[in-house]
Amino acid sequence: MRTGSQVRRTDKKRPFALHPGRRLAAIAGLALLLAACSGSGPQTSLEPAGRIADDINNLWLLVFWVATAVFVIVEAGLVYAVWKFRERKDDDRRPRQVHGNNAIEITWTIVPAVLLAVITVPMLSGLFEMRKVPTGDVLQINVTGHQWWWEFEYVDETGPDGRSIVTANELHIPADRDVYLSMTSADVIHSFWVPALNGKRDVVPGRITNLTLSAFAPTPDGQPHLGQCAEFCGLAHADMRVKAFVHDEAGFDQWVAAQLEPNTAVGAGWDTFTTFCTACHQVTVEDADGVRTVGPERVIDVDGERTFRSSLAPNLSHFGSRTSIAGATFANDVAHLSAFIDDPSSLKPMTPERNDIAAGIILGMPDYGLDSDEIAGVVALVQSWE
Ligand code: CUA
Repeated sequence: MRTGSQVRRTDKKRPFALHPGRRLAAIAGLALLLAACSGSGPQTSLEPAGRIADDINNLWLLVFWVATAVFVIVEAGLVYAVWKFRERKDDDRRPRQVHGNNAIEITWTIVPAVLLAVITVPMLSGLFEMRKVPTGDVLQINVTGHQWWWEFEYVDETGPDGRSIVTANELHIPADRDVYLSMTSADVIHSFWVPALNGKRDVVPGRITNLTLSAFAPTPDGQPHLGQCAEFCGLAHADMRVKAFVHDEAGFDQWVAAQLEPNTAVGAGWDTFTTFCTACHQVTVEDADGVRTVGPERVIDVDGERTFRSSLAPNLSHFGSRTSIAGATFANDVAHLSAFIDDPSSLKPMTPERNDIAAGIILGMPDYGLDSDEIAGVVALVQSWE
């Protein structure tokens, strides 16, 4: 049996037993520390950069200030009542007993109803505005969600061979022009979300969902709007990112023209590339045989409604013009790309052992055990495709 003094001694050893004053100081310090985590918030929806994101933000601000006013008024009344009617020494008076008060009851029924109406009207009109199919000079892009990367097909931007631009994870759009995304998934449910440009929308296999992006202004060099798959979709969900580059009209036309040029199929890496990489990846190249696209094509036909030209892995045409690799997660430089080809799952967690290419199931890039010369050849080749 412990004696009282033993218990007290053990109590004193508790690591978190703090004097109330120190405890308060510790909590304040922790709050400050956690506030530092907020950082620059690159994926905040509170800094809208487009028409629809701006509507959403204004709606949020309206609700925020209405809720803040309600909070302040209710808390002020509560604190006032607690202070005013506190128990006093030698005070045995009972408060005046009342039963019902029509004026107060009618007020607290009407005021919330008015507040709800104030919020509901702009919310409903905003919802219809967001869902409206844009008309006029609209850029149409097909979006296919894959475990764990995004595919973008510019359906109207076709080259002389009749093929449209297909790219991955990095979206390029013009400013001041509505961009209409038609989205589906090749596998599980994803959710497309670039907070600066619009809210999130689910991307569902066997269905088409739509989202309109409309950016106010071009993004500064090297500072695209960042986005993220917002629906848990498996192991590398967190690495299923998106970068949205916004250009002025001339800059966008220039990007389109560059993307429509075929890549050159030369260099030491081409043999390695066509032995391993084109089992899943596509690329459009030009050589002595002319312009051709190598790699498997997967066509996703959603209810005969719309055809998504897709592939099993990111299309690598003009890969060298991309700033990032592996779901827009790492910089597209020699070091990262070499490490990724050498041991893909070490950079981005994937399960390529569950791939079934014939069935179109791809859950990551396999480690093909290439030697350093082969890796260097492939890296030089794909990065030359600018
Ligand atoms: Cu795709 Cu989460």
